[in-house]
This record gives sequence, structure tokens and C-alpha cells, in this order.
Amino acid sequence: MKKVMLLGSGELGRELAISLKRLGCTVIACDRYENAPAMQVADKALIFNMLNDAQLRGHIKSVDPDLVVPEIEAINTAVLLDMEADEAANRTIVPSARAVDLTMNRDRIRDRAAEIGLPTATYDYAENLEKMLALCEDMGCKVVVKPVMSSSGKGQSIVEPGDARAAQQAWHHAVENMRGDRPKVIVEEFIDFDYEITLLTIRQKNADTVYCPVVQHQQFDGDFKISEQGHFDMGALEKKAQNMAKLITDDLGGYGLYGVEFFIRNGEVIFSELSPRPHDTGLLTLYTQNLSEFDLHARAILHLPITDIVTLRPGACHTINADSYSDTYTVNGISEAEAEVGVETMLFGKPDAYPNRRLGIIFAPDISSAKEAHEKISITY
Ligand SMILES: Nc1ncnc2c1ncn2[C@@H]1O[C@H](COP(=O)(O)OP(=O)(O)OP(=O)(O)O)[C@@H](O)[C@H]1O
Ligand SMILES: [Mg+2]
Repeated sequence: MKKVMLLGSGELGRELAISLKRLGCTVIACDRYENAPAMQVADKALIFNMLNDAQLRGHIKSVDPDLVVPEIEAINTAVLLDMEADEAANRTIVPSARAVDLTMNRDRIRDRAAEIGLPTATYDYAENLEKMLALCEDMGCKVVVKPVMSSSGKGQSIVEPGDARAAQQAWHHAVENMRGDRPKVIVEEFIDFDYEITLLTIRQKNADTVYCPVVQHQQFDGDFKISEQGHFDMGALEKKAQNMAKLITDDLGGYGLYGVEFFIRNGEVIFSELSPRPHDTGLLTLYTQNLSEFDLHARAILHLPITDIVTLRPGACHTINADSYSDTYTVNGISEAEAEVGVETMLFGKPDAYPNRRLGIIFAPDISSAKEAHEKISITY
């Protein structure tokens, strides 16, 4: 029986913990706050700051897990690199400490993708306001400005060409919402894409890389709200995206599921970024597939063979987000939503609410029924 230490215990961690428990693992769920979703189902919970070197190092040593599985980006990756180098301890960082380290910073994964020849939006970096203003002017096109360390769209802005005032605001917004203490932003050409996808890509120890059917998603303010799977066909572009996903995941190495994000524009497949772990847009696979992205990640990290990924039904989902701060809240309208055929809701049981915090998700047969079900949900605080 493997002992798994989960670094991050949100809704994705909870589903992974369930998949691991079904396969007989012992799961230790860690996060910065009590009663995080994965702690509802784990064998043990640990509360500490995963960015703190001494705390993270100390807890990994005392738990002594077979597998350390990062579920979030905000982790002290230098500790993971050290821990992986200590071969005597016989522990695996999932999928690899290098993958976790490179993907924590947008600049490092973006540079690596470009080095191995993946097409990306034109981009450059700035470490101060003057450099950023000069960059926006040089690029001369609509751009997206993002802190190099952030997730879920935090600190992102779009700047139109020639709008120096918006560029200045974008810098301050990025600096106020970044992780870490060294300001640095990526300034990226805005891609007017036809649609965007996540390709869930699974690297296996004893078999070829396999892929889930493409997940198409819609982001609002840089944060995922709607995704769908099984309703559209990318044609030959799907194979192209798979080949690109294989290139970058082979480069990062290790075993497990990666969420590789692409923009599709005019027959072009453009690499955006990737997660070395289950992806939020892939929560939908709980509804659509025989093995969800969490079941697949669990199998890949335990070196169990994955013989088939079957789509049981097409589907779509809509997240349920809070819009207020409160220590208590109630999600209403679930029975009205569930009264429709094919609608299933899931609540994450987070202890409190704050604006935009994801509290649950609605699964439905297609986007319009997911939106209709979402209309029936309200939250009281
Ligand atoms: N260059 C771009 N052109 C057009 N849209 C973009 C660009 N970069 C980002 N976006 C939009 O913003 C969304 C979030 O961007 P990105 O994935 O880089 O940020 P993130 O903070 O890592 O988000 P998450 O953690 O939720 O994946 C993208 O899915 C896309 O909709
Ligand atoms: Mg993203």
C-alpha cells in the first residue's frame, strides 16, 4: 500500500484522494487551512505553509511518503528538487520535481516550450514598469500582461496598442496580484483564437502516452467557468495537438497526467501553458469518462496500465462561484437544477466564501443545459 502526500487539498485534490483511496493508498492531505476539500476524505490532514522551506522539508521527512503529489502551484519547489535528489529516501515527486518547478513559473515553461520548437504567442518579459511600457510599444499589438507567478487568471490584464495608461494599470495589477516578491511580468501577444482546449495527456511508465478526448473551455477574467467535451471534432488538429503535448511532456518527464492548454486559430495550434497534474477544466471527466482525469492520474503515478479511456457520454459543466465574503454560506437551488435529466451538481464543502472562490460545479449534457441549471443556483451568505 503506497503512502501519498498531497500538497494542496482543493477540489481537484479531493477527487484525486478518492481515486487513490479506491486503489488502496494512504493519503495525507496538506494545505494552508483546515477542512480543505481533500481533508474530508484523506487519512490524515496537515496544515502548514507549503512555500516555507523548513515546514515543507520537515513534514515530508516526518511523513516519509512513497509519493509526493503537488496539487497546486504555490509550493517551495527548491525543496522538492532537493528531496528528489535524495535517492536513499526512495520517494517520487509527481510527475517530477523539474516539471513542478518549471511550470510554477510562466517564464520557465514558456521558454522551454519555445526552445523545443512549440509555436507560442510572441512574448517577452519585464521586471519594471519602464521596460514593460517599452515592450508594449515595441510589440505594437494587443497584448495580455500576466505576472510570471500566478494562477487562475490572477493579475492578468489586456492592453490595446497605444494605450499607455492601461499598460501602466496592467503593471500595477500584476504586481499586486503576483506570488513571490520579485516583480516580473510576461507580455504576450493577444491571440484572437477560434477556441481554446485542454488536452489531458497521460505519461505512463510501461506503455505509450495516452490522451483524453479534447476538452474545450471558456474563461472569464482568465478563470475557467465552462468546459465541454464530446460535442465537437477538431479533425486533423487533434493529432497535431497530441504530438505537441507529447513533445513537451516527454521533455518534462515522470509519470502522471498533464493538462496541456492550447489556443486554436485558423488551423494553427498554439501552445499556451500546462499543468503537471489534473486540470480544473477536466473536472468534467468525472461526468463523461469511464476513468476520470483523477483516476487516470492515480493509475499513472502508481504505474498501473491504462488500457482504454472511454467516453460514456458527452457533457458540459459550469462552475459555481461565490460573489461575497462570508464564514458561512448556503448554496440554494440544487434540487431545482437536479430535476433536469442529466444534471448533476457537486459541492466542494469549502469552509468559507470569498469573491470568485469556486464552491461547486454543475455537470449537464451540453452547455445550454449547464447554463440553465446554473441560473437556478443562488448562494446566500
Ligand atoms: N495570449 C493570449 N491571448 C488570448 N487569450 C489569452 C492569452 N493568454 C491568456 N489568455 C486567456 O486567459 C486565460 C488564462 O490564461 P493562463 O492560462 O495563461 O493563466 P492562468 O492564470 O495560468 O490560468 P489557469 O491557472 O486558470 O490555467 C486563457 O485560458 C485564455 O482564455
Ligand atoms: Mg491556464
